[in-house]
Amino acid sequence: MIHLLSLKLVSNSIKAVRGMQDLLPDKKARFRYIEDEARAILASYGFQEVGLPILESTSLFSRLVGGTTDIVEKEMYTFNDRNEDSLTMRPEGTAGLVRLVNEHGLAFNQTQKYWYTGPMFRYERPQKGRYRQFDQIGVECIGLAGPDVDAELLLLSARLWDQLGIASQVSLELNTVGNAESRQAFCAGLVAYLTPHFDDLDADSQRRMTTNPMRILDTKVPKTRELLVDAPALADYIDDESRQHFDGLCAILDAAGLAYEVNPQIVRGLDYYNRTVFEWVTTELGAQGTLCGGGRYDGLVEQLGGKPTPCVGFALGLDRLALMFEDQPVSSKIVDIYGVSVGDVARTKLMVLAEAVRSNLGLAVEVHHGAGKLKAQMKKADGSGAQLALILGEDEINQREITVKALRGDGGQVRIPEGEALAYLQSQFA
Ligand code: HAM
Repeated sequence: MIHLLSLKLVSNSIKAVRGMQDLLPDKKARFRYIEDEARAILASYGFQEVGLPILESTSLFSRLVGGTTDIVEKEMYTFNDRNEDSLTMRPEGTAGLVRLVNEHGLAFNQTQKYWYTGPMFRYERPQKGRYRQFDQIGVECIGLAGPDVDAELLLLSARLWDQLGIASQVSLELNTVGNAESRQAFCAGLVAYLTPHFDDLDADSQRRMTTNPMRILDTKVPKTRELLVDAPALADYIDDESRQHFDGLCAILDAAGLAYEVNPQIVRGLDYYNRTVFEWVTTELGAQGTLCGGGRYDGLVEQLGGKPTPCVGFALGLDRLALMFEDQPVSSKIVDIYGVSVGDVARTKLMVLAEAVRSNLGLAVEVHHGAGKLKAQMKKADGSGAQLALILGEDEINQREITVKALRGDGGQVRIPEGEALAYLQSQFA
């Protein structure tokens, strides 16, 4: 009976929203590890961190990301606030960053190198490596047009893979999508080629023939894919300047020894790109193998009412990157000392001592809370990863002493007078 009742309680309990994952300490520690490495590398290239709001006006994304992209058509979390303004939980960071740059007049005759991190929201079908709330680190360079800037972003990201120890598991795929005119001419060519086959296309691709023909290239439907084999290639429509830009980029990467593959299939799922587009991919994560993607978006600042400003950037998915380390331990518990005590008097004393250790020695101390036999407390101390245990029992209180036990190595222990505790602990962590 009790059993049935508790089952019912469990099934009635509120769960996390589908696709929104909890980050338990181990996973959060992986995110933090990646972020710390990225932060140090970005600083060494002169990038500054900015914070972007999670909520933006819906029109920002429909205008900048593209009204006929999957992200805007199907995946945005959009709602009216109490003032009946249409707001959207950001599906990506570039549009918000461009708004920030415009709003604060930062693009005007200046070069800006920014990065940001935080959650993004897309109503996609959840699976391993694809969530409805996921975290990105975004890196954006505002005001520089040359291929050297694109190259620097790629070198910087390669440095991060190196630092994270996954360089051998990722590869770089590059393409150029030319300027707006070359894409228009390509789309006209693609539509002309597919029109006689219209009835054989899947429904999505039929719709895209009028809304956004380039997106047809992304289709997974086998019959449409077959038709695309002989379709015109974007590569044949690329304007000369974009071609030169791309050649310039490849030359720098060659000189720097960064391996890449030119993949004409990469067009990216957002409309704002021109010239360079790229993805870092892995075969380790099944279908969700794109760890990082980006490219140039030279028209975006102007599109939002600013002056023409060349821009390039990328974003990496922290959730996917963290999956790359899933079987490697990342320490999420970083205390130096674990304190155990028996009785209220001892616990109070331990807490006061722990405060003094944190203030004076800058060490991390976890104090055991709640009752519990000494043996059980010592088990917790062992599992905490701490180097030392501080033990305060009845005898220690009576003698005005503390016991310090090594939790690693020989496991030896010493009794020292209370007044010498700080000096002793300092000597142990010197
Ligand atoms: P994106 O390709 O849409 O580009 O996303 C970048 C990365 O975010 C992907 O490569 C992937 O690792 C991760 N990601 C995307 N969707 C999901 C999801 N549902 N679950 C888990 N991870 C995901 C952008 O967002 C552009 N703003 C990048 C950019 C910056 N371009 C220029 N500047």
